[in-house]
Amino acid sequence: MDPAPDYTRLFRLDGRRAVVVGAGSGIGREAALALAAHGADVVCADRDADAAARTAQGAGGTAYPLDVLDRAAVAAAPGELGDVDVLVFTAATNVRKRLLDYAEEEFDRVVALNLRASFDLVRTFGGAMAERGRGSVVGFSSIRAVTVEPGQGVYAATKAGLVQLLRTAAAELGPRGVRVNAVAPGVVETPLTAQIKADPSWYGAYAAKSALGRWARPGELAGAVVYLASDASSFVTGSVLTVDGGWTAVDGRYEPPGA
Ligand SMILES: NC(=O)c1ccc[n+]([C@@H]2O[C@H](COP(=O)([O-])OP(=O)(O)OC[C@H]3O[C@@H](n4cnc5c(N)ncnc54)[C@H](O)[C@@H]3O)[C@@H](O)[C@H]2O)c1
Repeated sequence: MDPAPDYTRLFRLDGRRAVVVGAGSGIGREAALALAAHGADVVCADRDADAAARTAQGAGGTAYPLDVLDRAAVAAAPGELGDVDVLVFTAATNVRKRLLDYAEEEFDRVVALNLRASFDLVRTFGGAMAERGRGSVVGFSSIRAVTVEPGQGVYAATKAGLVQLLRTAAAELGPRGVRVNAVAPGVVETPLTAQIKADPSWYGAYAAKSALGRWARPGELAGAVVYLASDASSFVTGSVLTVDGGWTAVDGRYEPPGA
């Protein structure tokens, strides 16, 4: 009979190396700090070297300047970083414009970071993990993968595309011991959404849309990352973990009287 599991250690990451790409800001920063708090040795990667260094200092980890649009740098990263057990990547951008107003350059820029760079990261780190026979990859999708509004089209397409990319990676790498999952946040107060926060009616409408009636703090995504990184999720792969305060559960267009 197997020994009784020690559930007090279910989320522990001692002895594991985690790379967080986008660790300089927002959700990536909090994810890096939370992974470190659970014992992981965290590599804080970001295009913004100073921001990566600040997070690394807080996490007791290592800063790793990395521009994920530099394909040669991404390809070289696993060789430079050694064995990686966990990859979390958050780097993404949004140009909020209606489809008819979109410039080709804007489309290319959003797709290059949100989808193309994600493809490169999953292949590079996922491939190295598959060779070792273990690992966990956590990418960041969005509620926009399933529900849209005017002005979110290209971002939404990349976030839906990312889910299918990650599901396929889960299918292909699962037999080789690598789990691949997505987190889908609702609205989170970070630099990515500063444009919305600056507009009180837009900010308020987004707060009212979720069941909890507010925005998330970036640290409220950290639990999902630790869960998917750790053995607590050892049988979870190909999934999308929604952390949206109930946004996608509630229609919200109308409150029936007396209900
Ligand atoms: N904030 C939200 O409301 C929200 C909602 C849904 C989904 N998400 C998703 O969550 C993830 C994290 O979002 P956030 O709000 O923390 O973003 P953020 O803008 O606060 O942080 C993104 C980080 O990525 C880094 N980065 C940008 N380009 C890079 C590049 N080429 N190479 C390396 N690093 C680069 C930035 O320097 C920054 O540190 C994104 O994938 C985003 O789409 C966010």
